[in-house]
Amino acid sequence: MFPSSALRSSLPGTHAFRSAIVRPPSANFSEGLTREDLGPPDFSLALAQHAQYCAALERCGLQLTRLPADARHPDATFVEDTAVLLPRCRVITRPGANSRLGETDAVRECLSTQGVPLETITTPGTVDGGDICEAGEHVFIGLSARTNAEGAAQLGTLLQAAGYTSSIVDIRGIDGILHLKSGLSWLGERRLLLIDALAGDPAFADYEPVLVESDEAYAANAVRVNDVVFVASGYRRTAARLRELGHALVELDMSEFRKMDGGLSCLSLRY
Ligand code: GLY
Repeated sequence: MFPSSALRSSLPGTHAFRSAIVRPPSANFSEGLTREDLGPPDFSLALAQHAQYCAALERCGLQLTRLPADARHPDATFVEDTAVLLPRCRVITRPGANSRLGETDAVRECLSTQGVPLETITTPGTVDGGDICEAGEHVFIGLSARTNAEGAAQLGTLLQAAGYTSSIVDIRGIDGILHLKSGLSWLGERRLLLIDALAGDPAFADYEPVLVESDEAYAANAVRVNDVVFVASGYRRTAARLRELGHALVELDMSEFRKMDGGLSCLSLRY
């Protein structure tokens, strides 16, 4: 049963997640899309990292729905791109890469079975969930190579009808990030973890920035899960800064997903 009202989390300004959808990588994961030049992922290691990620979600109290791996869609493990799930607005997206369009079917079916009321992004709109950054009652919508203006406008209208405000952040001129959340994470209240290239955007003017140094840019894709923040392991200065600010961290090895242009947030749909 989908919660009709948001439960409080102990992280200020956030609501509690009770559930998540995850999907392990398929054996042909290496055939997915990537702009990275880090070599092919090791499938066994990717499975192990995915299992550790799922275990961390479960330790945070989330009940997982595990979709089967889908070899027809080698990027399907990045399940976050298929939906936007907020307490009052749940939307099946229309991913911006043709090879990923079919990924939404299983997620729609899964959420429908759970009784989640769903809106849908329709053609010619495209939205990848990785471009959508919830910050409580406000939502940042990234315009990217995957999320187009029509998709962003459709989502903005749905959010407004549900009582959320939103703003557009155009990342099309920023090198090195696929999605908005590749360079931005909301940490609760008005605190954002973000890369330098995003810091000057007027959309973030009223927020407290926590800047990620350029050689640790991958760590900007963190994900708060109730009272902890998941961060990729190996980014020592970012982790130290977040601890200094009082955040409890779960550090997870993401090396194989990074090779396929994916981050921590991409691996689950949390609700
Ligand atoms: N491999 C993630 C994406 O390109 O969508």
